[in-house]
Amino acid sequence: MRHRIAFISTIVFALAVTASAQIPAAAPIPHLEKRGAATQLIVDGKPWLALAGETDNTASSSLEYMETAWPKIVKVNLNTVLVGIGWDWVEPEEGKYDFTLVDGLLDGARKHNLRLIFLWFGSWKNGLSSFVPEWVKADQQRFPRARLKNGKPVEVLSTLSEASLNADTRAYTAFMRHLKEADTGRRTVLMIQLQNEVGLIGDSRDRSAPAEAAFARPVPPELLDYLQKNKPALWPDLLKLWEAAGARTAGTWQEVFGKSTAADEIFMAWNYARYLDHMAKAGKAEYPLPVFTNTWLVQPQDQVPGDYPSGCPEPLVIDIWKAGAPAIDINAPDVHLRNFNDWSERFHRPNNPLFVPESYGDLGGAANAFYGIGQHAGIGYSPFGVNSPEHWAEMRPGTNTPVSNALEDLPLAKAYAVLAQMTPLITDAQAKGTIGAAWLTTQQPRRDIALGNYVVNIDIQRNRRNPVPALGYAIVVSVGPDEYFVAGRDVQILFMPNTPGPEIAGLARVETGKFVDGKWIPGRRVNGDDVVLEYDQAAAAAKNQSGSGLIFGADGPTIQHVKLYRYH
Ligand code: DGJ
Repeated sequence: MRHRIAFISTIVFALAVTASAQIPAAAPIPHLEKRGAATQLIVDGKPWLALAGETDNTASSSLEYMETAWPKIVKVNLNTVLVGIGWDWVEPEEGKYDFTLVDGLLDGARKHNLRLIFLWFGSWKNGLSSFVPEWVKADQQRFPRARLKNGKPVEVLSTLSEASLNADTRAYTAFMRHLKEADTGRRTVLMIQLQNEVGLIGDSRDRSAPAEAAFARPVPPELLDYLQKNKPALWPDLLKLWEAAGARTAGTWQEVFGKSTAADEIFMAWNYARYLDHMAKAGKAEYPLPVFTNTWLVQPQDQVPGDYPSGCPEPLVIDIWKAGAPAIDINAPDVHLRNFNDWSERFHRPNNPLFVPESYGDLGGAANAFYGIGQHAGIGYSPFGVNSPEHWAEMRPGTNTPVSNALEDLPLAKAYAVLAQMTPLITDAQAKGTIGAAWLTTQQPRRDIALGNYVVNIDIQRNRRNPVPALGYAIVVSVGPDEYFVAGRDVQILFMPNTPGPEIAGLARVETGKFVDGKWIPGRRVNGDDVVLEYDQAAAAAKNQSGSGLIFGADGPTIQHVKLYRYH
């Protein structure tokens, strides 16, 4: 008898083992988590750096086309792809959903070992309502349009329509329900972008009758409460506007924010925020993935809201979005401007982690990725147009000839390869606050970062053997009292002590190498000509600066490991 019980329990145990091997416990849902100094995207239980790229708007409407894109995307070393999903692609007839495309995209991504971020092109895409289904476009009675100053309706759904909100919410929640069913076992989808660059173009506010009525009513008390509670942390220009109008705690939009187009912009921001918050909440009730919006940034030639989409989460109105849309986790900038350093700083705030869903993919893009991730604890970077990355090739200086035609040699591909190797080190350092980065141009050629026991002096590369490049970038991670990992391209780096003790810094030991499965594998030792920046040792010692330093050429980014010492 005892034998029989033992035999049966062996079978039960064997069956249990087989079952658990076949059905792996679902990984936790991707989510944002505050870890020390950073808010990180946690995927499969670990911080994830989204080394991403976004496809052209309609690339993802054809699975056949995507078959040509996936292999290129893999060669550029992405781990995450942002793809659009149009409301009209999944609900062409009201109430009848077809998610074949979504399933095909999930399938394609999985086959190529990639993760996805879906962009829900619903009520608005670049301010317009061009991706809504035909049954929405055609029925302006039921789905009213915004109107401009001249009285004309435009191809833009009004934010004040409950019918539009309900119809978009129904479709979006059906999509999120589908994702939950289709992806719980895999977690291929990491986040959702809700709508795309919302905001009214052509006027500073919607002039339809319901919008005019809402504009004449008092500012909702929940917005004013938020502003009062968060006063010290408000965007300075918003605070100025509010204070200039008397810092009132009740009144109409113009009474509270003054009689300028800024009041219109704030009103629009509030209404878009409420609309998206309702949708984000309903979607999260189905499947709680992180949700972000993307911002069409004010361009240098823009004068008033309406030149750029009025109500889009620009820095001026980001607090209005935080108040009106708590279910939106991130307001993200689309940085199609070259001053990436300024924009990343504006959007990285204590309540807003940095994620950049659209930007450049060329050499400047590689520098942006390093800078956003290294200096602003970014959770990812994503250049636009990743389905045809050929146009990101680097040209030989002064020519139109690419340095290489191989996608693996693109500056972005090389930068992503290094960031992938360094991900555990970087994400750990983001949480500890032991990381910094430099983004240098010939106009801004120098950055000093105080990190650990030293000030790290980073300069654009002026190595006597090479011409001065137009751009340089580096990430610096402090890993011990006198020890750093540095990755970069076209920079040179010296060190100065920043704590009590012997006052002059020197290089003790430098090596190149790579990370394999998170472990540092040293390669060549670096010394002699490869660390000598200048022979004027007296000048260096007078500044307490190390007499030699790290040099990163144009063949990178590469990684160097440096140990320093100090002397009197
Ligand atoms: C910004 C938009 O968000 C994208 O969808 C795309 O239209 C690009 N502009 C084109 O540059």
